Amino acid sequence: EKITVSLIKADVGSVPGHVVVPDEIKKVAEAFLEEKKQNGDIIDYRVLNVGDDLELIMTHREGVDSEKIHGIAWETFELATKRAKELKLYGAGQDLLKEAFSGNIRGLGPGVAEMEFTERGAEPLLAFMMDKTEPGAFNLPIFRIFADPFNTAGLVIDPSLHNGFVFEIWDIVEHKRVFMNSPEEMYDILALIGGKSRFVIKRIFPKEGSKLPADEPVATVSTEKLFQIAGEYVGKDDPVALVRAQSGLPAVGEVLEPFAFPHLVSGWMRGSHNGPIMPVPFHYAKCTRFDGPPRVIGAGFQICNGKLVGPVDLFDDPAFDYTRQKAAEIAEYMRRHGPFEPHRLPHEDMEYTTLPKVLDKLKDRFEDV
Ligand code: F6R
Ligand code: MG
Ligand code: MG
Repeated sequence: EKITVSLIKADVGSVPGHVVVPDEIKKVAEAFLEEKKQNGDIIDYRVLNVGDDLELIMTHREGVDSEKIHGIAWETFELATKRAKELKLYGAGQDLLKEAFSGNIRGLGPGVAEMEFTERGAEPLLAFMMDKTEPGAFNLPIFRIFADPFNTAGLVIDPSLHNGFVFEIWDIVEHKRVFMNSPEEMYDILALIGGKSRFVIKRIFPKEGSKLPADEPVATVSTEKLFQIAGEYVGKDDPVALVRAQSGLPAVGEVLEPFAFPHLVSGWMRGSHNGPIMPVPFHYAKCTRFDGPPRVIGAGFQICNGKLVGPVDLFDDPAFDYTRQKAAEIAEYMRRHGPFEPHRLPHEDMEYTTLPKVLDKLKDRFEDV
């Protein structure tokens, strides 16, 4: 029987400023999802946060894009927003961009990563959640997990991975997608996804002849673009991803390996700066220095008939201390540039921030030269 995992997130308010979701808000979400579990609407759930983002992980048998499940997520965010407003939290209800739910939560503000698949005899599932960055921040790690033999030994050694994977890539500006084969089209894939503000990896599929069904995704990333929904800057669309592992897929350690490199992502302060992504344990999932640096948490589960066994806090490990130290050094180096590019985003990308309002004032003072 197939199972669906839905990871749906929204920023509905935080303390202080955009730093962290308080426990009180997570408890509101937990109480509501517990009700939905008891009455059988969902099989299981977990509530987590990274920085100011409230993260709902739900398992069920309703498939992806289910009106019922998206409705439950929306209602959870509304209840959490109500409490956030009572507490006068910062940015209360920030990501709920529309007044009413209309059948699907995509396009209403929250971010969604969900996939339906046949649960295997043992099903390891990893959930990654990022704050203060954008969906393209997952391009590098997902590419390395499923396509880079220097990262994933199984691509070379294990006959069940050796044929590679299919990448579904979205052009989030033109709203188009393309399916590409790795390793055959690896250079073309990189030609696209290196441009991470426009081309984002949406899903990964096994190839025909793999141990796993070729029509069931093995990884998925949220690709919502808040800017395009709201029409003006309302924060970055902090992304989430789900990745399945083992037995014909990259091992858990191969999935975690690319996060040992704190690559540069865009976001950070005012969604307007490049900085390193720092993998942190849950208890450090709060954004402080210069509203960052951008962070990622990893939650590891086994799925048992839809029930979630876990989470294991995957970056709560001295094995990632070196990466965090490196990220802190890079944060320091980048910060020394102050308002200068390439710490600040390139001019074209600043179009989506509050900068144009500042530049508007100077318009009339320019004269021809
Ligand atoms: C970035 C982010 C913060 C805010 C910044 C200004 O995604 O959420 O860095 O952009 O704290 O916030 P406002 O405009 O609410 O004062
Ligand atoms: Mg916020
Ligand atoms: Mg956020």
